[in-house]
Amino acid sequence: MLMTTGFTLWFTGLSGAGKTTLATLVERELRARGRKVEVLDGDVVRTHLSKGLGFSREDRDTNIRRIGWVCEVLTRNDVVAIAAAISPFRAVRDEVRERIGRFVEVFVDVPLETAIARDVKGLYKKALAGEIPQFTGVSDPYEPPLDPEVTIRSAEERPEQSVARILAALEALGYLEPARARAAD
Ligand SMILES: Nc1ncnc2c1ncn2[C@@H]1O[C@H](COP(=O)(O)OP(=O)(O)OP(=O)(O)O)[C@@H](O)[C@H]1O
Ligand SMILES: [Mg+2]
Repeated sequence: MLMTTGFTLWFTGLSGAGKTTLATLVERELRARGRKVEVLDGDVVRTHLSKGLGFSREDRDTNIRRIGWVCEVLTRNDVVAIAAAISPFRAVRDEVRERIGRFVEVFVDVPLETAIARDVKGLYKKALAGEIPQFTGVSDPYEPPLDPEVTIRSAEERPEQSVARILAALEALGYLEPARARAAD
């Protein structure tokens, strides 16, 4: 059976956890396997679809509902929708999960100290200096998923290893044809 049905792969985690890195690598691999893929990255979404929204709880939830709605539309059209946004609040993540149904949550778990040490965008330095209010992990909450389909500990493995585990999980969940079966036909 060809597995061509859409699904949503939803990355959540602190800034600097590795969401964009992993979303990009998974996107590349899924395209190589012949799937249609669209990535909704938090940073990009906030310059278009969610331009003007801030970082209050209400605005963050609105941002996630918008990303979730686009993922829902893509998913029902058999595209693989990949969301890579901090999405700090559990309730709205679960709301989006319910709406979409075919939903795989990847918790990119990283110790705050590691994210601060990486400081990919230089934002932690500013947040810790009090220059950015409502910064997730510093001055705003992050609620980890209680039962994610995949947990990645990005301080403990290389991105390629994380990607391999995500793909294996997608195969095990029946969203992706196993690479081995492809090689056999
Ligand atoms: N196993 C891993 N998975 C993902 N990233 C990793 C891993 N190990 C190390 N890294 C590094 O961690 C950093 C993650 O940065 P990235 O921009 O992907 O984070 P992000 O979660 O998208 O943050 P933001 O929410 O600010 O956009 C990169 O520099 C990446 O190379
Ligand atoms: Mg990112």
